Amino acid sequence: MYVLGIETSCDETGVAIYHAQKGLINHVLYSQIDMHSEYGGVVPELASRDHIRKLVPLIKQTISESKLKSTDINAIAYTAGPGLMGALLVGATTAKSLAWTWQIPAIAVHHMEGHLLAPMLEENPPAFPFIALLISGGHTLLVKVTRIGHYELLGQSLDDAAGEAFDKAAKMLELGYPGGPKLSALATQGKALIKFPRPMTDRPGLDFSFSGLKTFTLNTYNSSEKTTNDKANIAASFQEAVAETLAIKCKRALHQTGLKRLVVAGGVSANHQIRAALTDMALKEKAEIFFPRPEFCTDNGAMIAYAGCQRLLNGAIENLEINTRARWPMNEL
Ligand code: KG4
Ligand code: ZN
Repeated sequence: MYVLGIETSCDETGVAIYHAQKGLINHVLYSQIDMHSEYGGVVPELASRDHIRKLVPLIKQTISESKLKSTDINAIAYTAGPGLMGALLVGATTAKSLAWTWQIPAIAVHHMEGHLLAPMLEENPPAFPFIALLISGGHTLLVKVTRIGHYELLGQSLDDAAGEAFDKAAKMLELGYPGGPKLSALATQGKALIKFPRPMTDRPGLDFSFSGLKTFTLNTYNSSEKTTNDKANIAASFQEAVAETLAIKCKRALHQTGLKRLVVAGGVSANHQIRAALTDMALKEKAEIFFPRPEFCTDNGAMIAYAGCQRLLNGAIENLEINTRARWPMNEL
């Protein structure tokens, strides 16, 4: 069974083909970063219009590069939410139209389930059950996963998501968009000399709060001389605080559940220092840790094709109605 995956929830147009037995066949990605960088962030209407321009050519490219024909495709998986409504609608309507034309099923995929399952595309995938830390631009979630589709929310951010905090802190340091990778690159030139708070680690529970780190960044920056060196030291200190906070909460989740397996996914999991801090913690806890390869940490079509394929194998069916959801709690899956 060949599944075509379509991801258009935000600022990346991702298309992939996953085969139930042969694995990932091909994936292509078009990033809108250059277009949005002029505005310092994602402009939703521009994102939708660009998905319209790019999606069909990318689908054609993905199929032909795979040496397949459209008649070889057995099903389509598309991101139905959460995300930008206009952007989601482009993927959903394209998926449903193609499915109707080709007389095959189209299956809605939850974007965060896609992230959660991305490590399954690697050579050494995690076995169930495991704890998943999902850190993206819109979400920070700690989830207990017993099997595909069985997700228990253990904790989440009460305000900004981890990626959002990176992006906002980068904006304050005048680093531009996309903030996460830029702040992370600058952090390598600095030293974590400033003691940032480790939010909500001094009280029990698995929830997060990152908005205080943003305010701390602004105050520290405004009281500095604003040199490149100051910026680099603030970036390094900020990043260390996020990494350590995430490690503390993951360790707590492992203890609380008695599990010894941790999956880390979503755009922020591409961050080297965060990967290192979590790997270090897992080693000390004698727990296994799994990450997607960096290109599958951020948005991509491969994770959507994989998640959709698993849903289809589990008997999922869907009518031709177009259902997209800007907000969609994972425990409703
Ligand atoms: O998963 P993703 O591609 O899209 C969402 O579902 O939101 O995550 C994007 C987020 C952005 O906030 C971006 O700044 C952050 O991931 N990000 C990073 C890094 N690469 C991407 N944050 C920190 N360090 C990175 N290397
Ligand atoms: Zn994402």
